[in-house]
Amino acid sequence: MRDVTGWVAVVTGAASGIGRGMARSFTGAGMKVVLADIEQAPLDATTAELADAGHEVLSVPTDVSSLEAVEALAASAVERFGKVNVLCNNAGVGTAGPVQQTSLEDWRWTLAIDLWGPIYGCKVFLPLIEEAGEGHVNSTASMAGLLAGGSLGAYNVAKHGVVALMASLARDLRIAKSPVTASVLCPGPINTNIVRSERNRPAESLAEHVDTPQGERFWQMLTDSLSHGMNPDEVGPMVLDAVRTDKFWVLTHPDMLSIVVDQVERIGRDQSLRVF
Ligand SMILES: NC(=O)c1ccc[n+]([C@@H]2O[C@H](COP(=O)([O-])OP(=O)(O)OC[C@H]3O[C@@H](n4cnc5c(N)ncnc54)[C@H](O)[C@@H]3O)[C@@H](O)[C@H]2O)c1
Repeated sequence: MRDVTGWVAVVTGAASGIGRGMARSFTGAGMKVVLADIEQAPLDATTAELADAGHEVLSVPTDVSSLEAVEALAASAVERFGKVNVLCNNAGVGTAGPVQQTSLEDWRWTLAIDLWGPIYGCKVFLPLIEEAGEGHVNSTASMAGLLAGGSLGAYNVAKHGVVALMASLARDLRIAKSPVTASVLCPGPINTNIVRSERNRPAESLAEHVDTPQGERFWQMLTDSLSHGMNPDEVGPMVLDAVRTDKFWVLTHPDMLSIVVDQVERIGRDQSLRVF
């Protein structure tokens, strides 16, 4: 098990939900944490909570869909703490609707944050983590990265991309005998603010969202389901464990894997797709 005391971690989407849980867990383990988020007030509140508890933290307002902003985040982290050991590409948003009616702007907004965010993060931070001599990159995908459920096409595409990105990265790092390891977090239902994703969406982008009855129904069902979901503070320790023990898959609801197995078995059996 790796000793992470004194390591520096950067967590995106750290102002709320799963990212805030990671920041709490990492500081509890003796790491210095850079909290990045697009939403200023909760970012300030989370940073103050951790600073008041005596932890070394830095808050950097960041839009992960901007390469320049991610570069500025890295520069701020190095300026303050001198190095970076851990990156968690966690910031994310969601929008619902059948693929046929999903607007191009819904695709762009979702992919810019959920997929390009982790791509920019890996590109910018990997050299820094390698320079630090040891470390880890985790990205938050979803069970939607392993299963393509209905009414969530753009999100499914982004999260399948994140799973592929991290699996590719983990292999490439291993082949290169890099001191950096990688993992992917695939949460099931977690009780967070993800169902209120549009709170951070620019008005001009939101104006191009296409409402559909199916999307509305799905979002209501998701809102109900997540309100009974796992406490996000339970997820941070799972990611911390992956950082320490070099585990690739971080699954909050491993019981959901049976659906993935069923889906894969259908490929060989009758090439059908289970609809759920
Ligand atoms: N909650 C779930 O059930 C669930 C399940 C699977 C995957 N996930 C994933 O977990 C991650 C965290 O989401 P959460 O559930 O904690 O939701 P959340 O809304 O509570 O937290 C997401 C955070 O990301 C921030 N964010 C949004 N856009 C951003 C941007 N452009 N740049 C920087 N920060 C931005 C938000 O301000 C927020 O603080 C996301 O990637 C999400 O897709 C969540």
